Amino acid sequence: MATVRTSIHGYWSSRFAFVLAASGSAIGLGNIWKFPYMAGENGGGAFVLLYLVCVALFGVPVMMAEILLGRRGRSSPMNTMRVLAAEEKCSSSWNLLGLMGVLAGFLILSYYSVIAGWALDYVVEIGSGSFVNVTRDEAGEVFTNLISSPRRLLFWHTLFMVLTMVVVARGVSKGLEIAVRLLMPALLFLVLVMIAYAMVKGDFYAGLKFLFTPDFSKLSPGVVLKAMGQAFFSLSLGMGAIMMYGSYLPRDASIATTSFQVAIVDTVVAVLAGLAIFPIVFANGLEAGQGPGLIFNTLPLAFGQMMGGVFFGAIFFVLLVFAAWTSAISLIEPAVAWLIEKFSISRLWSSLICGGIAWVIGLGTVFSFNNWKRIELFNDTFLAGKSFFDLLEYTTSNIMLPLGGVLICIFAAWFMREPSRRDELQIVNEGAYHVWRFLARYITPLGVILIFLHAIGILEKLHIT
Ligand code: PFF
Repeated sequence: MATVRTSIHGYWSSRFAFVLAASGSAIGLGNIWKFPYMAGENGGGAFVLLYLVCVALFGVPVMMAEILLGRRGRSSPMNTMRVLAAEEKCSSSWNLLGLMGVLAGFLILSYYSVIAGWALDYVVEIGSGSFVNVTRDEAGEVFTNLISSPRRLLFWHTLFMVLTMVVVARGVSKGLEIAVRLLMPALLFLVLVMIAYAMVKGDFYAGLKFLFTPDFSKLSPGVVLKAMGQAFFSLSLGMGAIMMYGSYLPRDASIATTSFQVAIVDTVVAVLAGLAIFPIVFANGLEAGQGPGLIFNTLPLAFGQMMGGVFFGAIFFVLLVFAAWTSAISLIEPAVAWLIEKFSISRLWSSLICGGIAWVIGLGTVFSFNNWKRIELFNDTFLAGKSFFDLLEYTTSNIMLPLGGVLICIFAAWFMREPSRRDELQIVNEGAYHVWRFLARYITPLGVILIFLHAIGILEKLHIT
């Protein structure tokens, strides 16, 4: 049952171009900034192990399902879900899934841009020599000064959002391919340089032990939920980003191979980032569980001490900004493409509107680190002590993305008819197809739902665990 749908937004020049773009989306702040601090806050090895299990059991099947739907629908996730639901004779409510994805994209981009702004600021800080031979406390002060200044945060947030919108307005495939092809390997190279430094000057053994010796006493239902959320976040799954990119994928590309490649590259980069950071954390007596400031308090210390550190440090943060940039583009592309399809407006207008909305929501995060550290409104609830940023980060990664991912899997593996699925996946290996279908039908949905129930404590109340 071949479909003849075409994308009005263009195509990738090859399968490799798609792998690059999807890796560009996946590799970003999630690997270098978030993975280390989440591992640090949640006890190290056990978190890492759970994360790897979630990537294999949920990440790869959901990624395949997303690409499958995207390529079949050939439009923005909202329209793809509408068209496919009609084609497969399912309820039209399935396009709510596209809507939830668009919403998640806005919310994530809003804070993603603020954090990318920290990295922009650090290009200037490191480049101007602020960290040369500083002590741990002096380095910490630079970070505290940054996040306590709403003006500075606002400036960088605005700059990053403008940069993102410039690329989105020009159309995704232009420029992105080159950026990913050249800059991602460069970032990887610098991470390797940091690891080499960490081996010589850091407490490498302590770092290895922390990351790879699971201490199961540190596990709790909340930690399991966060490891799962991190897997979805890091692989850009559950909100339609990969579905959108899949809609530009040529028909002859293998979805399974592509998904594996992206998942492996993304995971390797995250683990390497951990290996670069924790030895420095332990050698300098820093707090592994200090939260979102972790890499900003750790890496500059190392750059401040190494030869050529001013140069390498500045380049490192430039590359981190690029990595964040290629991810940010994919966060907003589903919304931008949908506005174009729905209202026939130009790409420029659509980008301006979407960027504007994300920028405004981002103000909440800008003030989360200074004027509105805690939202007083929630003082009497379990949300007490959480900032706007904490709430956004938690709900998007741990609830919206996994929920979106499960619904995508359920649609692809249960509601789509077998011939459509087979036609799109172009199965060459029957066994592998059955493994995917089993994972997507049973393991991913049940696994994610069990983790949700566990985290809200229902399973415990029923004495099931
Ligand atoms: N995967 C990106 C990162 O690790 O930084 C973040 C992200 C991009 C999440 C796109 C979700 C998404 F749809």
